[in-house]
Amino acid sequence: MEREANMLSRRRFTQILGAGTALAALRPPLSLNARGLRPPVTRAAAAVVRLSSNENPYGPSPAALRAMTESFSLAWRYPDEHQDALVAELSKLHGVGGDQILLGDGSGEILKLSAAAFTGPGRGLVVADPTFEAVAHHARTGHAEVTAVRLTPDYRHDLSKMLGAAGSAGLVYVCNPNNPTASLTPKGEVHAFLSKVPRETFVLVDEAYYHYVESGDYESVIPLVQDYPNLIVARTFSKVYGMAGLRCGYCVAQGPTIERLRAHQSWDSVNIMALVAALASLRDPAHVEQGRRLNGEVKKYVCAELDKLGLSYIPSAANFMMIDMRREVRPLLEAMRRAGIEVGRFFPSLPNHMRVTVGTRGDMQAFLAALRQVVA
Ligand SMILES: Cc1ncc(COP(=O)(O)O)c(C=O)c1O
Repeated sequence: MEREANMLSRRRFTQILGAGTALAALRPPLSLNARGLRPPVTRAAAAVVRLSSNENPYGPSPAALRAMTESFSLAWRYPDEHQDALVAELSKLHGVGGDQILLGDGSGEILKLSAAAFTGPGRGLVVADPTFEAVAHHARTGHAEVTAVRLTPDYRHDLSKMLGAAGSAGLVYVCNPNNPTASLTPKGEVHAFLSKVPRETFVLVDEAYYHYVESGDYESVIPLVQDYPNLIVARTFSKVYGMAGLRCGYCVAQGPTIERLRAHQSWDSVNIMALVAALASLRDPAHVEQGRRLNGEVKKYVCAELDKLGLSYIPSAANFMMIDMRREVRPLLEAMRRAGIEVGRFFPSLPNHMRVTVGTRGDMQAFLAALRQVVA
């Protein structure tokens, strides 16, 4: 599982570098001082450059940081009103009723609730291979059978094969853009798939990286929720909103589906700081635009440098990239670590690919310098 793998690698990191150094590397890139926001600390200057978790190196919106600072004094209260306020804002954003939104402790909680509600013995899960493993992990914990369907050679979900397996499944997971490949499954294929999946089988479309997509062949399926009672669409504040450490996500689905998910959830699972930060972030679309633009610019730079090195990569629709190293990547991951760069973990079905998060330009200069050494 991705997060577990990240935690493992962080633990390993601590062993290699010593706790102090590892903590220095995990310093937040933004902080408030008396005059407001401080500029980002350049990761190149830090001991370790973390490009392993697809985090947003530019951090949250200054408005989110201010909202959190102002709400320290609310820590003694349960977050009811703040939940309601965020749900109301999300309803407005997506043009759906408040009963069609469920907040989660990160979108990871939504994935877990979906597995709990719709998979189990005799109600399997269908996923792509490779994809984000959290749902499969939770489904297996609930003793559900997991069917993994290889991505197409151009890294789309093979939705006709997944449809073939969907009939006997409780849940199909479609990650779009997909993690770890950063590839898209075109909107026409997703629409056709949704129209054919049996209504008893739920479809969870994970749009964690939605904001980074620039292709015209992609769109959110949130507007289709009104047509499909079996559709759940997950979103997160961890990526373009830069709030991975705060833990806030949500899903959109029809009311009865939301209630089936909610039945498995702890009450008040999203904390008040995350709620106020999420609300302020939604009201700062310029910050999202800036995050998308900076990611696009730095990604373009990295692609050009990889081209010079003669390394190919899967076209990326997200804030991370999969680079074909043309040889087993595990020793290279270790070598990168020794050079101070933490990249994504090993993906067994793509054994020659290295996943790297698109950090700041400084981060990526450090990454490329290490990569040149490692492939020399
Ligand atoms: C595709 C995908 N979905 C969900 C998540 C979980 O995100 P969070 O729980 O931080 O919202 C991640 C995290 O990397 C992800 O890559």
